[in-house]
Amino acid sequence: MTIPQRRPILAANWKMNMTLAEGGAFVKELLARSLPAGVEVVICPPFTLLHLLGEKLQGTSLKLGAQNMYFEEAGAFTGEVSPLMLKDAGAHYVILGHSERRAHFKEEDSLVGKKVGAALEHGLSPILCVGETLEERKEGKTLEVVERQLAGGLAAVPRERAGNMVIAYEPVWAIGSGQAATGGDAREVSAFIRRLYGDQFGREAESSLRVQYGGSVKGDNIRDFTGYPEIDGALVGGASLKADSWHAILQAVGQQISAP
Ligand code: PGA
Repeated sequence: MTIPQRRPILAANWKMNMTLAEGGAFVKELLARSLPAGVEVVICPPFTLLHLLGEKLQGTSLKLGAQNMYFEEAGAFTGEVSPLMLKDAGAHYVILGHSERRAHFKEEDSLVGKKVGAALEHGLSPILCVGETLEERKEGKTLEVVERQLAGGLAAVPRERAGNMVIAYEPVWAIGSGQAATGGDAREVSAFIRRLYGDQFGREAESSLRVQYGGSVKGDNIRDFTGYPEIDGALVGGASLKADSWHAILQAVGQQISAP
């Protein structure tokens, strides 16, 4: 089957980094440079920067994303932020089920699934993260783990909204380790994710699904991933924190898609 062209999506996951001043300076520096057409660029700052960046990104080609949310709209949920609040601050995307949330905050597939459903219901596009630990990989359980995480994470996705999902394949051992997966391994899992998605939501949804790779992506290895038709971009942590290293990634993908 030939896979149609999808718009690549590169998302910066700033994690728990950046003050208002730092985030503002980053965006100013980035917007002063030429950004590749044909690539969707998303910045996902901590909650405290959402509103500021929402204003700064208005009218630019950059989109705003959050790193988490709760699934209820409002109420007695101390410390949580709702989909309505993210929309209000200007977010289009929300990262859900990141491995750091699964590991440190004990988020389970069932909770991630509720969040994904609520995000879609409110017009936010989830970036659903899945991926195996090193131990699981060594035991040959990679696909099994990804399948389980997808089953839970996609449980509340209605078929008519299946076109609004992004899935990030992020092997846990590759995150922040400097040890990226090989392009071939990422391709194999991305193809698997696509196939399962198609089984659940139909082939049209499969062909419009964007699958990112994440884990130690930098300007000099991004094309090892985006060179494959099954991989539509990346979710980037460390290398998204400096305008220089982030811009190098955007440029690399921009050149790749404009090459004949
Ligand atoms: P990294 O993080 O690029 O620093 O490995 C990726 C992520 O956690 O999304």
